[in-house]
Amino acid sequence: MKSALTFESIARCSTTKAKASLLTLPHGPVNTPVFMPVGTQGTLKGITPKQLDDLNCQIMLNNTYHLGLKPGQETLDKVGGAHKFQMWNRNLLTDSGGFQMVSLLKLAKITEEGVQFASPHDGSLMMLTPEHSISLQNSIGADIMMQLDDVISSLTTGPRVEEAMWRSIRWLDRCIAAHKNQDRQNLFAIIQGGLNKDLRRQCVEEMVKRDTPGYAVGGLSGGEEKDVFWQIVTLCTDLLPKTKPIYCMGVGYAEDLVVCVALGVDMFDCVYPTRTARFGNALTMNGILSLKSGKFANDFGPIEEGCDCPTCKNYTRSYVHLVTTKDTVGCHLVSVHNVAFQLRLMRQMREAIIRDEFPAFVIRFFANYFGDKS
Ligand code: GUN
Ligand code: ZN
Repeated sequence: MKSALTFESIARCSTTKAKASLLTLPHGPVNTPVFMPVGTQGTLKGITPKQLDDLNCQIMLNNTYHLGLKPGQETLDKVGGAHKFQMWNRNLLTDSGGFQMVSLLKLAKITEEGVQFASPHDGSLMMLTPEHSISLQNSIGADIMMQLDDVISSLTTGPRVEEAMWRSIRWLDRCIAAHKNQDRQNLFAIIQGGLNKDLRRQCVEEMVKRDTPGYAVGGLSGGEEKDVFWQIVTLCTDLLPKTKPIYCMGVGYAEDLVVCVALGVDMFDCVYPTRTARFGNALTMNGILSLKSGKFANDFGPIEEGCDCPTCKNYTRSYVHLVTTKDTVGCHLVSVHNVAFQLRLMRQMREAIIRDEFPAFVIRFFANYFGDKS
């Protein structure tokens, strides 16, 4: 199918599968490997699009499910899409909505037609079909849109796994047929198949035939064992074309980012950095700081030495500790830092790959992140 992106190789690690590339999308360049922060309702929780822009974030995620309910398709069409609605001039990626429905609404029912759910606003029954998801995503206008997939828990076993995999392939065909803006919006396929390698292999084979501009690995990071998670990622990055971006969905722990970059993944997203910030947890290269702890009450250093984020440049741990326990401002300050941390981690990996020093970076990362701080 048509593609509205270019994906240029910049460097490859000589000992792992890590790669640095330049992904060029309709709203500008994206240096990969990249972490994409998640703005569920048109903004990240606790961060404005302007603040995200100031952090030099090149691409953010939005959810079709949320934007489709509010502001809704009519408003999106009227304002000319989500970039304008949010005053965000950089790249956007929209998830298709199925995952959010299945994970947020326990009552969602999946049939061949689509995902049926009760509207959270008035309880009326609604149906998200592949065609409807694509129509909404065309109105949103994101630079990358995701196919509607049949999402199951990564812990599901038995015939349901195979059914969801083949249905995701059929839904991909319906999404491709419904996609009207192939000249300016890139549709990515999502590999499913649970933890079953034969199913994953078949799914990759079928989806690669559709020749979409990029591929995502879905259905992971749902509580499965790490070694199985890594094996599935490895299988997918081995079989997928090296000439197109590979996106591992819902992955955002620092250690998972480092391992998956080594396994050849280019793109990631996760609500983790902003969610954990709301609990007062700050991410640093020396591990996670629980800023609500009283031990920071008289600590007048920044959250992370050397961090150039607005929080670290302007506030002490002592101050953030106080407001984290007393006010939502604390969550905002930690959210800004955590997103800056994720973006910096990706930048450092990219630079290490380009210098061909990625293995040394991995060793240093694990020693520092999980090292003994006592
Ligand atoms: N986000 C995290 N995992 C998934 C997945 O498997 N499918 C979709 N659509 N979104 C996701
Ligand atoms: Zn900081």
